[in-house]
Amino acid sequence: MKPVTTFTLREMKRQGEKIACLTAYDYSFASLLDTAGIDMIMIGDSLGMVMQGHDSTLPVSVADMVYHCRCVARGVQRALIVADMPFMSYQRSPAHAFASAGRLMQKGGAQVVKLEGGEPMAETVRFLVERGIPVCGHLGLTPQSVHQLGGYRVQGRETTTAERIRRDAQVLQQAGASLLVLEAVPTELAKAITSDLEIPTIGIGAGKDCDGQVLVLQDMLGIYPRPSPKFSKNFMQGANSVEAAVKSYIEAVKFGKFPALEHGFSSS
Ligand code: KIV
Repeated sequence: MKPVTTFTLREMKRQGEKIACLTAYDYSFASLLDTAGIDMIMIGDSLGMVMQGHDSTLPVSVADMVYHCRCVARGVQRALIVADMPFMSYQRSPAHAFASAGRLMQKGGAQVVKLEGGEPMAETVRFLVERGIPVCGHLGLTPQSVHQLGGYRVQGRETTTAERIRRDAQVLQQAGASLLVLEAVPTELAKAITSDLEIPTIGIGAGKDCDGQVLVLQDMLGIYPRPSPKFSKNFMQGANSVEAAVKSYIEAVKFGKFPALEHGFSSS
């Protein structure tokens, strides 16, 4: 079984093969997802909400992330392991980001680190990449900025914001990012960004035209006790096991059946 790398994902984009990704935070789920054939596992700082019960991702620490990365890494043989850089672990300076990313990779077993933000983060992305740390960007609804954004709202509906996000995507690619998550942006904007870029885009609430899709595991299993976002889908409905639900998600992504129109957003 050949491990998935950032090169594999770029080649999948070139070949038009969709990338299936889910979050996971522990050994058992990571192992189940990996065996089911998921391409990429994200240890998202969404763990602050779905594992720890916080209202946002802001309280998550690097130590929390390292702990969950280690649990996940023990269960994975094939999928690419991407770990979130938590709030306040990378914004201060590129050197600080390098230290935090180093802990996620060295102690946690992460293979790629993900950070939120566009142009203002480009210097940091370049600093990490030049020192051997692969980076995944994250644009659109960036949950660590929830208070600045005024809530978990769709981003890029107005022309000026859409243009900024599109430009930010280019800047991140130029800075050396290997992947880009697009969260809660209009389908048309995600489509344009996906065709602008050579690196794969991974959508969550960004429509069907992204190169891949990601969902929070607890949302797609329908086990998060608070309301799930409109862009998510409960794959346990109609499935007789967690494994069947995960396989049905992977198949739906690969065959372009998920996300459907109702899981996306329009510009108006
Ligand atoms: O925190 C998270 O889980 C994420 C992904 C869902 C994109 O950022």
